[in-house]
Amino acid sequence: MNILEIIEAKKTGQELTDEQIRFVVDGFTADEFPVYQMSAFLMTVWFNGMTPAETAALTGAMLESGDQLDTSGLSGPSADKHSTGGVGDKVSLLLAPLAAECGLKVPMLSGRGLGHTGGTLDKLEAIPGYRIHMENEEFLAITEKIGCAIVGQSGSIAPADGRIYALRDVSATVDCVPLITGSIMSKKLAAGPQTIIIDLKTGSGAFMTNQDKARQLAAALVETGRRYGRKMSVVFSDMDQPLGRAIGHANETIEAFDALRPGHRQTAPQDLVVLTEDLVAEMVRVSGVRPDREQSLALVREVWDNGQAFERMLSWVKAQDGVLNPDEPDFGLKTAPLALELKAPAAGWLAKIDCRQAGLALADMGGARRKVEDPLDLTCGIEFLPQIGDRMEAGDTLARIYCDRKEQAQLAANRLLESLEFSETEVAANALIIDRIE
Ligand code: URA
Repeated sequence: MNILEIIEAKKTGQELTDEQIRFVVDGFTADEFPVYQMSAFLMTVWFNGMTPAETAALTGAMLESGDQLDTSGLSGPSADKHSTGGVGDKVSLLLAPLAAECGLKVPMLSGRGLGHTGGTLDKLEAIPGYRIHMENEEFLAITEKIGCAIVGQSGSIAPADGRIYALRDVSATVDCVPLITGSIMSKKLAAGPQTIIIDLKTGSGAFMTNQDKARQLAAALVETGRRYGRKMSVVFSDMDQPLGRAIGHANETIEAFDALRPGHRQTAPQDLVVLTEDLVAEMVRVSGVRPDREQSLALVREVWDNGQAFERMLSWVKAQDGVLNPDEPDFGLKTAPLALELKAPAAGWLAKIDCRQAGLALADMGGARRKVEDPLDLTCGIEFLPQIGDRMEAGDTLARIYCDRKEQAQLAANRLLESLEFSETEVAANALIIDRIE
C-alpha cells in the first residue's frame, strides 16, 4: 500500500477500504509521509466525499489513535451531548448535573473556544481551583460517585484528529462533512458514552451556517454513531442570536449556575432553559430511563425545581476542587466591572443579529481566542438583553459591557451595535428548536 495510490483511488471516485483509510491516518500521525500528500488526500475527500463506511473507518482510525475510556464499570446508563458550538452556549454546565440527577452517568470531555465560539472548558476555568486535567481513573471515579464530571480533552484522546484538524485549518478543508464527522465522533466515542445527543446549531453564530450542510452533517453523525453501537439523536437549534443573555466566561458560568437554583427555571432566560431541558430530556429518553419525551421532560423539570440538580452541580464542582460559594453574589466568581451600557439608537423591533460578530465583540476585549495559543480574559463579558422580535424604544439598554478597560469595551460595543438590524415593523421571534432526527 502507498499513499499516492490511495490519493489516486480517492481522486477517481473509488471507495477506499478500511485498511487504506487506516494506512492514511496512522501514517500521517506517525510522520510516515509528508504533509503535502495528506493535504492532497484531504482535498480529494473534500471534492469526492466519503461513503458512510469510509466515514466510519476514518472515525475508527482516529479514535484508535489514542486513549479510549472504559465506561463499562459505571453503574448507570452513560450519556453525553455534543454541541457544534455557538455564542453564549453554556448548556453543558446545567445539562451535566441535571442529567446526573435524572440517573445518568455523564463523563464529558470538553474543548476550548476558538474564534467567535466559546468553549465549556474556558467557562469552567473561571471557577477558582477547578481542575480540568486529571487521570482517566479519577475522572471516571467522579463520574461514578457524583454522576457527572467535565474535564479537558487531553492530547491522548484522538491525537490523529489534533494533527489532521491543524492541517485542515490551513488547507481549506475544514468545511467537509465526512472530515467533520470523523473529527467530532472520534473524540465523542473516546469518552465512551452509550448515548450521544447532538445539538446541531445553525444560523449566523454557528459553525454551520448552511441548513443543507447541517442536515448532511447530522445524518453522517447519526450513521457513524450507530455503526459504533451508540444511541444517537440530533436536535437542530437556532444560533442566529446568542443563547441566554451572558456572553463571556465568568458571566456565562454565573448565568448557568444561577439558572439551576430552585425556582429559577421560570425566571432564567427562557431560550437557555428550553434548550437545556430539551437536550437533557433527549438524553433521558434515548437512554431508556423514561419511555417518552413527555415523561423525560417531567423528570428533568422535577429535579430542576426541587433543587436537587443545583446541589448536584455544587457537589460536582467541589469534587473537581472548584471553589463556588452559592451564598455570595455571583457565587464568588470574579467578573470585570460594568464599563458601559449600549443604548438603542432608535425605536424599532430587533430584526437580526450577526451573531458571529457578537462573539467577536468578546474577542475585542480579550475574552475569546483568535489563535489557539491566545491567553484569555475570563472576567470580561457582555450581557445582551433583547432577542429577535423584541420591541425597543430609543435609549433602551441593549447591552451591558463588563471590562477593565474602557477603550476595549467601546470597541466591543461598536461592533455589537453594527451587528444589529432594526425594523420599523413587527418581526416574528425565531424558533429555537428547528427540527430533530430521532
Ligand atoms: N468540531 C470538531 O471537533 N471538528 C471539526 O472538524 C469541526 C468542529
